[in-house]
This record gives sequence, C-alpha cells and structure tokens, in this order.
Amino acid sequence: MTERTVITTSESETFELAVNFAKTLEAGSVICLSGDLGAGKTVFAKGICSALDVTEYISSPTFTIVNEYEGKMRVFHFDMYRIEDEDELIEIGYDEYLASGGICIIEWPENIKNSLPKKRIEISILRDLSVGDDVRKVIFKEFK
Ligand SMILES: Nc1ncnc2c1ncn2[C@@H]1O[C@H](COP(=O)(O)OP(=O)(O)OP(=O)(O)O)[C@@H](O)[C@H]1O
Ligand SMILES: [Mg+2]
Repeated sequence: MTERTVITTSESETFELAVNFAKTLEAGSVICLSGDLGAGKTVFAKGICSALDVTEYISSPTFTIVNEYEGKMRVFHFDMYRIEDEDELIEIGYDEYLASGGICIIEWPENIKNSLPKKRIEISILRDLSVGDDVRKVIFKEFK
C-alpha cells in the first residue's frame, strides 16, 4: 500500500488535484471516495470526470445508486449510502460494472467493505475546521 497526503485550500485546488490524479487512471480503475457531508467528494468526482472529457453534469448520486457517464472512458459513479446488505449489489449488477473496464468511483465504500476489489485507490477528504473552512486534507491510499 502506498500513501500520500495533499492539502488543498479551495474548491478549485481540489478539482485540479482530481484532474491530475485522473491522468494516472487506467481502464477498470476503482476509486473509493470517503468524506463527510460537504467534504468535497463531488468536487473531486467532477475533476476526475472533467479529465476524462465527460461533458454531462455530475451530481451527488443520492437518489440512484449509480450514475453512468460517457467520456474518454465510461465512468460509473456509485453512492453506497443506502446499501444495508452487500447482497443488494447483485441486483444493481455491481460485479458487471467492475468487470466492464470503466472507471468506478464509489462513495460510502464503508458500506460495502467486503465487496471492494483488492486493487483500488482509497481517497479520504477531511476537513479540519481548526485550520480554516476551505482547507481539506486529501489522503490517497493505493492498494495493489
Ligand atoms: N478545499 C476544498 N475542496 C473542496 N471543496 C471545498 C474546499 N473548500 C471549500 N469547499 C466547498 O465545500 C463544498 C464541497 O461540496 P461537495 O458537494 O463536493 O461535497 P460532498 O462531499 O460531495 O458532500 P455530500 O456528501 O453532501 O454530497 C463545496 O461547497 C465547495 O465549494
Ligand atoms: Mg456529493
């Protein structure tokens, strides 16, 4: 596992960080995105999608479990917030998405701990209000 931490001090810095990060992605990459409400998960997902030339609007996938976008590669943006039992993943075709070669961005990966692929990149976005409203610590952990 390799780990690195980047501090950002604005929304646009987090967006740019995600754009640069996305250049390292390959077909089938799985990115787990964690962080509290308003941490910047959607900002980060937008940066990834922008780098992949997705032109559609990226929202928080709150009302659907998965949003699909088309760019240089296909992007599947999952919100596992409402998953209570990992068996529910069968119904949404989770394994097929993982095997499809598209980029999978998974929010609330904590809820599907036993179903995450071994090879994945975990990104946690943390705010520290003692430092400032717009400061975020972005921690990347790569599992191979
Ligand atoms: N350094 C920063 N990086 C990212 N966003 C920042 C930063 N500083 C301030 N912000 C603000 O924080 C908010 C992040 O919102 P975003 O929708 O990305 O959060 P989220 O993690 O997706 O939340 P939710 O779980 O509610 O969907 C935006 O309003 C953005 O302008
Ligand atoms: Mg969001």
